[in-house]
Amino acid sequence: MNITSIILAAGQGTRMRSRLPKVLHLLAGRPLICHCIDAAQQVCQQKPIVVLGHGADAVQKVIAETAQIVIQEQQLGTAHAVMATEPVLAGKTGLILVTYGDMPLLTPETLQRLVQVQQSNPGPITLLTIESGAPRGFGRILRKPDGSLIGIIEEAQASPQQLNISELNAGIYCFQAKWLYGALKRVPLSPKGEYYLTDLVGLAVADGLHVSSLLLEDASEALGINNRIHLAEAEMILRRRTNQALMLSGVTLVDPETTYIDPGVRVGTDTIIYPNTHLRSGTTIGEDCRIGPNTLIEGTQVGNRCAILYSVLEGAVVEDGVSIGPFGHLRKGAHLAENVHMGNFGEVKDSYLGPGTKMGHFSYIGNATTGTNVNIGAGTITCNFDGVHKFPTEIGSDVFIGSDTMLVAPLKLGERSRTGAGSVVTHDVPPDTTVYGVPARQHNNQRQGD
Ligand code: UD1
Ligand code: CA
Repeated sequence: MNITSIILAAGQGTRMRSRLPKVLHLLAGRPLICHCIDAAQQVCQQKPIVVLGHGADAVQKVIAETAQIVIQEQQLGTAHAVMATEPVLAGKTGLILVTYGDMPLLTPETLQRLVQVQQSNPGPITLLTIESGAPRGFGRILRKPDGSLIGIIEEAQASPQQLNISELNAGIYCFQAKWLYGALKRVPLSPKGEYYLTDLVGLAVADGLHVSSLLLEDASEALGINNRIHLAEAEMILRRRTNQALMLSGVTLVDPETTYIDPGVRVGTDTIIYPNTHLRSGTTIGEDCRIGPNTLIEGTQVGNRCAILYSVLEGAVVEDGVSIGPFGHLRKGAHLAENVHMGNFGEVKDSYLGPGTKMGHFSYIGNATTGTNVNIGAGTITCNFDGVHKFPTEIGSDVFIGSDTMLVAPLKLGERSRTGAGSVVTHDVPPDTTVYGVPARQHNNQRQGD
């Protein structure tokens, strides 16, 4: 059956007290609205339709590729917002799923189940409800003594008795498309001057049509974000979800409460993650690794059996058996081959360190490549930038670079060459040759007084 998704996101979100539109605030590193689009996308065939109003331009820039956008010029309520989609959906058949752009924890599984309930409902609506003692402004579900649904009453209009009802309207619905738009035209203006989507329930019941509901077992899925306290709560719930899935898949998290892993990050079996570690999007960690404590990894591939301690890795590739840290920094384009060891206070950028290369202490390697088993002495620096351009350094296999060597690029060090401590190397060094001094010259040089 044809399923179309509408995501309402035109509201202002004043309680966020922000210059940023509410749905662009980040949850696990991604805008709220992107979580909602992802979930909807998994149950419907075409791109979700997102209704925008406040801050539409900024939101549109973020979601232009993944959603179809409809503008609701004036925000006259949730029914009015759905009405704004009529021009793009007129004549539509099948089902229409309505969700909110500020409810990012709803899972695709829940949306799928809602659709299934509606598929076997002869009437036009299935709505999602939750049981909670903390109503947080949600509408109350009204039922007859036989349990059948008769309507929804908004908190502002509810009687003291109705306020005690603990079954709440999550605000998520699945509608028969061919019924929806005709019914929306009959929604009356509320005392607050808005058109309420919730009134459709009463309208359907008055027409003798059946309204179904699905009770959400995990009420936290329906957490709507209205302020930054809710945002932090959602962050915690999502973090728990992500961490629990990883632990069940065979990853040890020593302290899940202080382990921050973005959804979609993959971690291999028997890897141990120590506290205060952040694994951000685009990251993959292999098996049998030890990561952290106090490590941040983003957009990086890490192989198997690696140990990364108190370090920051961004946009890098790390092969099997590498050890980094404490206090290492891999920047964009850093590639450490198998069994590289990078000790404390090293920085590598746009460089390849060949297998078995050791860089123990205090070095900066930029725009360089090394062969295998190179020893990079303490304090080695590739001087790769002249203020305008970057220049490459090529270091052959089995080279030994003495402590505190300055490698002034462009430069090539031949295989098995050596530099003395404190050398400033300005010219290429042939294989099997030792250079030393400032500027560096060859040892055993035939020319006297050179
Ligand atoms: C709504 C429901 C309430 C439910 C609650 C759950 C109505 C009348 N009430 O109340 O029963 O318990 O959600 O969260 O529907 N929006 C627009 N355009 C508008 C108005 C709202 O796009 O003109 C969007 C908002 O951006 C938001 C969503 O619709 O994403 C919900 O609007 P909001 O005003 O927060 O509704 P609630 O008062 O929370
Ligand atoms: Ca709300």
